[in-house]
Amino acid sequence: MCGIIGYCGHRPAVPLIIEGLKRLEYRGYDSAGVAFARKDGFEVIRSAGKLGNLEEKLGGLYVYEASAGVGHTRWATHGAPTEQNAHPHTDATGRLVIIHNGIIENYAELKAEMAAQGVTFRSETDTEVLVNLIAKGLDETKDMLQALSWALNRVEGAYAIALQNIDEPDAIYAARKSSPLVMGLGVGENFVASDIPAFLPYTRKVVFLEDGEMCKITASSWSVFQVRDITPVDKEVHTIDWDVQAAQKGGYKHFMLKEIFEQPKVIRDCLAGRLDLSASRVCLPEIENMEIPERLIIVACGTSYHAGLWGMYLLESWAKVPVSVEIASEFRYRDLILDEKDVVLAISQSGETADTLAGIRIAKERGAKIIGLCNVVGSSVARESDAVIYTQAGPEISVASTKAMCSQLTALLLLALYWGEKRGSLDSKLRDGAVRGLSELPGLLEAELPALRGKASQLARKYSEARSFLYLGRGLNYPLAMEGALKLKEISYIHAEGYAAGEMKHGPIALIDPNFPTFALAPVDDLYPKVKSNLEEVQARAGKIIALTGPEAELAVDDPWRVPTPQSPLCSFVFLPALQLFAYEMADYLGKDVDQPRNLAKSVTVE
Ligand code: G6P
Repeated sequence: MCGIIGYCGHRPAVPLIIEGLKRLEYRGYDSAGVAFARKDGFEVIRSAGKLGNLEEKLGGLYVYEASAGVGHTRWATHGAPTEQNAHPHTDATGRLVIIHNGIIENYAELKAEMAAQGVTFRSETDTEVLVNLIAKGLDETKDMLQALSWALNRVEGAYAIALQNIDEPDAIYAARKSSPLVMGLGVGENFVASDIPAFLPYTRKVVFLEDGEMCKITASSWSVFQVRDITPVDKEVHTIDWDVQAAQKGGYKHFMLKEIFEQPKVIRDCLAGRLDLSASRVCLPEIENMEIPERLIIVACGTSYHAGLWGMYLLESWAKVPVSVEIASEFRYRDLILDEKDVVLAISQSGETADTLAGIRIAKERGAKIIGLCNVVGSSVARESDAVIYTQAGPEISVASTKAMCSQLTALLLLALYWGEKRGSLDSKLRDGAVRGLSELPGLLEAELPALRGKASQLARKYSEARSFLYLGRGLNYPLAMEGALKLKEISYIHAEGYAAGEMKHGPIALIDPNFPTFALAPVDDLYPKVKSNLEEVQARAGKIIALTGPEAELAVDDPWRVPTPQSPLCSFVFLPALQLFAYEMADYLGKDVDQPRNLAKSVTVE
């Protein structure tokens, strides 16, 4: 959601910024722009649509002289995704140029106030209000840091901003509150960006800015201050251990496909150092000093929420921990009954989702302990949690989350084993079977993925005319059904609902007809007879059925999709890529933009 990059160094800034924006494309955007200083003022070039449009415009300009500049991909919040609303924005006098990710909540009051003082606005954005407010601060204080502090102390809402002043064309100022911003430290060059891939080809040294901090960078210097009162802040420099390779397509047609095929590795990486096969034990040093919670509240959004629902079944069954799973945007506005004995498990791939972060903060205020389950090292969720379990999935670029969910399920399974063992509530045979099964899972999946893709492709073609799908599952397969439906709607724009199979008769059954197919998750387990009767109800109404099931199943449905089904819950790790590949093949066959679906953002950093 909005990508920001600012560069000060010794290379031509504009091509480098465009390249950086391309690596932030996964965040989702609908317009883009760059700005840099010329002798007579800022050059601002913007365009609606994809970065290609911006590049076309830049093609006719000589842009190689600037060695500092800022660039932005905008995901529209205030005002349509037009060129006029695209960032960067300048203040009314043209002295300052800004890029912004987030929402200024009190922008309407500030805008009215400044309009009354004669400031004219050219866009509908909250960002243009902010840059004018900073310009006003500059008039009053004559100093950029003071101007930023003055203005930012007056705004409410979320922001990551980067800006330049025409009087200091070789410097960039940046600040953050509730939206991600990192600094990259190179040799004779420095960067600020929304995410590390933006500058990863140039440096692996990063400084994570905290909320309420601002920084100044030039080619040869960097410094960080509190926004509140401009006191300097000492920051730790981190070194990132993944490389550019991990953030590239590696021969696959789309990032999503690459990421689905990385799942065997993701499981291996998540298990590494945590699963002691010889002793059949799980080690989670991150939480070894924590008691088993009396109650666990899982808070998450989107795919991470589905992973949480899946985890609930296991944590209750194996570790006997009472669990509730909450959508973060609901959780944060409830009258919560929480106290010091509660533990909140915040699940987030990016670690930057605004609602999940807000949930963490509220739970913390009530005294609850927070465990973060996230993928991005150093992210806000990671930093604000009392303990972090990293899912080790590596960078996930495709907007639709795939391998991250696989890693979340792996980590949740480990957590259920760990607490179950610690409490003594876990049957040892079950534990040994799960541990052995887990260790065999990557190999099994590696062998199976090509066949899964083949079948997914065949089914996607067969069902490509459907406009709606019903996904059904019970138990652990109910959250997976929800995830299968989410994947399909996210990238193929086909409406889909994930339902608990037993609940179908209370509503969705009314929709069943020959044009409304059902995608069932029907492994041969304890609940199989129940799911089978649900499917008979569908067939009685002439509904077509695809059913993911085990090799031994005798299911008389239109399209049985027989796959190896290791003992539950490990079967989920085969069903998940099958669901992902069906959505992928459908979207690709229908010619959709698989990696950057319309209107969606990878990391939703606003409410
Ligand atoms: C966005 C993404 C989803 C993701 C959700 C939660 O909606 O498009 O793929 O599942 O945010 O993101 P998180 O980073 O918190 O897991």
